[in-house]
Amino acid sequence: METRRLVVGISGATGLVYGTRVLELARKAGVETHLVVTPAGQQTRAYETDLTARDLAAMADVVHRPADIGAAIASGSFRTMGMIVAPCSIRTLSAIAHANGDNLLTRAADVTLKERRRLVLLVRETPLTLGHLRAMTAVTESGGIVMPPVPAFYLRPRTVEELVEHTAGRALDLLGIDVPDLPRWGE
Ligand SMILES: Cc1cc2nc3c(=O)[nH]c(=O)nc-3n(C[C@H](O)[C@H](O)[C@H](O)COP(=O)(O)O)c2cc1C
Repeated sequence: METRRLVVGISGATGLVYGTRVLELARKAGVETHLVVTPAGQQTRAYETDLTARDLAAMADVVHRPADIGAAIASGSFRTMGMIVAPCSIRTLSAIAHANGDNLLTRAADVTLKERRRLVLLVRETPLTLGHLRAMTAVTESGGIVMPPVPAFYLRPRTVEELVEHTAGRALDLLGIDVPDLPRWGE
């Protein structure tokens, strides 16, 4: 039977809303979500939103603690469609690039790569150093997809929400998760 299960990581880059939108759209698409939020991700949640940690947890089907490196998503034998890290900090990108599974988020990402499943990183930083670019290259060489959350304007978004939804929907597209009613060019 097909596994309709997605791992979602939220790290401490600005743009927590990308993570919450991915969770909402995955739920709408009938996909079970497994969430891990880093301590810095919890800090940005508090800075950027009115959500409590409990509100954020309620948006996922299963929530794992970042220190719980024995959780199901730390093993390749636990089947998933893949993983989206949204937003992805440079620290988390760098850890993934070097197969450094020191917390559950980076371990789950490394498992996703080793099992040759889809890994999509919404890396958020600007401007970029050569070190950042090299980490992106390393992840790409390992089969991951680096997808900075860069807005598209051709669909004439009227709100920030629309911009965010389009990016989150495109990330889910990369995992073959169809989001109903996502605005698309030419449709
Ligand atoms: C409000 C705020 C915004 C931040 N934005 C970014 C960012 O856009 N990109 C980034 O790489 N780090 C950003 N950081 C720094 C990361 O949170 C920091 O490097 C942290 O160690 C990342 O840890 P994590 O990868 O385990 O989540 C931000 C921190 C704060 C407090």
